[in-house]
Amino acid sequence: MSRLLRTDAPGSLHYGARFWTGSGSWRAWEEMDVALTDGTPHQVAWNMGRFEYLCQHPDEARAFDEFMAHFPDDRHQAVADAYDFSGAGLIADIGGNRGEALRRILTRFPEPRGLVFDRDDVVAAFPDDGRMSGRIATEAGSFFDRVPKGADVYLLMRVLHDWSDDDCRRILTHCRAAMETGTRLLICEQILEPDPARGDPFLYSVDTQMLAMFGTARERSVAEFENLLIGTRFAFQRLIPTTSSVFIIEAVAA
Ligand SMILES: C[S@@+](CC[C@H](N)C(=O)[O-])C[C@H]1O[C@@H](n2cnc3c(N)ncnc32)[C@H](O)[C@@H]1O
Repeated sequence: MSRLLRTDAPGSLHYGARFWTGSGSWRAWEEMDVALTDGTPHQVAWNMGRFEYLCQHPDEARAFDEFMAHFPDDRHQAVADAYDFSGAGLIADIGGNRGEALRRILTRFPEPRGLVFDRDDVVAAFPDDGRMSGRIATEAGSFFDRVPKGADVYLLMRVLHDWSDDDCRRILTHCRAAMETGTRLLICEQILEPDPARGDPFLYSVDTQMLAMFGTARERSVAEFENLLIGTRFAFQRLIPTTSSVFIIEAVAA
C-alpha cells in the first residue's frame, strides 16, 4: 500500500495524502457540526475563507496546487483526449492553477496557445518550465473582478464546485462579458446524481469536502449546471463523458 504514496506510482496518492492531512482541511472537518446550522466549518476553524487561508499558508497552497496537478483521476489528460480543440487559436483556462490541463491539451493539439488565469499567489508560483516554450502565458487576477478577453475556448475545470450558485453566476457573468457570441465555454466537473441511492458514493464525500471548506459550495447535477448557464446568457450544447470522473459540459455564449 505504501507504494501508492510514491510520487512515481501510477495514480499516486502522495499529493492527495499531503493535501488531505494539511491543517487547513483537517481542522475544518473538526468543525463540521456548524454546517448543520448554515455555518462554514473552515471559516469557523480559521476565521477566514479557504483561498485567503491558502494565500497566508504558502506550503499548504503549493501542496494543494500539486494535488490539483497530480489528481489520481487524471482528469487533465482525459479532457484533452475527449474534446477536439483543433481550430482554437487561444484557450483560456480560468482558475487553471499550474496549467496541467493546458499542457496536456497543447501537447495533443499543436496549434493553439494557452492562457492560465488564476489568483496572484498561484500565478507567482507558476513553474517556468511549465510554459511549453512560451505557448502558455499566465495572467493574475480574480474571476470575481474580470476574465481576460480574446480566447476562442474558455475552460472552467473543477472551479464552479468551489462556489455557491450566486458566486457561480458572478463567475459565469464575467466569463460571458469576456466572450464573443458563439465562443465556447467548457465546464469540466464531476456530475452529482441527485438520488444518493443511485450515485457514486465517492462524489458525496467530495460534496462534503466542499461543505467543510466553503459552506455553500457543492457538487451539482446536469440540471443544476444548465440552470446556471441559462441565467448567465449561455446555451447548453452537450454533455461529453471522459475516461475520468469529470464530464465536459459544452456551452456557447448566446
Ligand atoms: C479546485 S482548483 C482547480 C484547478 C484546475 N482548474 C484543475 O482542474 O486542476 C480551483 C482553482 O480556482 C482558483 N481560484 C480560486 N479563486 C479564484 C479567483 N477569485 N480568481 C481566479 N482563480 C481562482 C484556485 O487558485 C484554483 O487554482
